[in-house]
Amino acid sequence: LILALVLPGAALAGSLDEILERGKLRVGLEPAYMPFELTNQKGEIIGFDVDMAKRMAKAMGVELELVSTAWDGIIPALLTKKFDIIMSGMTVTQERNLKVNFADPYIVVGQTILVRKDLAGQIKSYKDLNDAKYKVVSKLGTTGEQAVKRMIPKATYISFETEQEGVMELVNGKADAFVYDLPYCATAMAQRGEGKLVFLDQPFTYEPLAWAVRKGDYDFINWLNNFLNQSKNDGTYDKIYEKWFKD
Ligand code: ARG
Repeated sequence: LILALVLPGAALAGSLDEILERGKLRVGLEPAYMPFELTNQKGEIIGFDVDMAKRMAKAMGVELELVSTAWDGIIPALLTKKFDIIMSGMTVTQERNLKVNFADPYIVVGQTILVRKDLAGQIKSYKDLNDAKYKVVSKLGTTGEQAVKRMIPKATYISFETEQEGVMELVNGKADAFVYDLPYCATAMAQRGEGKLVFLDQPFTYEPLAWAVRKGDYDFINWLNNFLNQSKNDGTYDKIYEKWFKD
């Protein structure tokens, strides 16, 4: 706060100028969303978004700082300048877009379902879960939670703080279905699904994921969109994609 007062013009400059002046890009993310951002056994934050963030900082000629932030507070943290940008697999929703600006989407995903194996015969789509007898889980404040409430309103919905807890509830037989973004469900299925879960992998929502910045930060948005376009067409994006989505 004090710094903002003593740096002339800093309060008026867009984020891009602030980043360059500071010599550091600060990226907000919640590292629980495989394979976009996760914490490895050494405690390092890695993933698709992290590799893109590294490229981004390099292209700006600045250092990178990853700011680990709880999902339900990630937009307020951006707005109060805890970091410059959210790179955290965030779906562009019209509601969020009232509070933040998004760069162009970098990937499109959708909601999919992991179900307990013994229910595979009766649950073929999200519609079959629309009954109070089914216990459906997802994560607090996500589009998974919103999809369940909107499209499977009769199911008994239970929210978890983390993706991992939601999946474990299902693996332990205490829930019937876990609704979440396709890439996460695919990874969870590969890691914990064997013999226990069935993956209904046809997305039933349309969800572009994009980087979010504070409203009105058009210089930054312009830089981000051109960076994304360049990355998508010079092989950078494909290389990172291959690394995290090889199967
Ligand atoms: N795409 C979903 C959403 O925007 C889930 C994103 C969760 N990201 C995370 N880093 N935990 O609500």
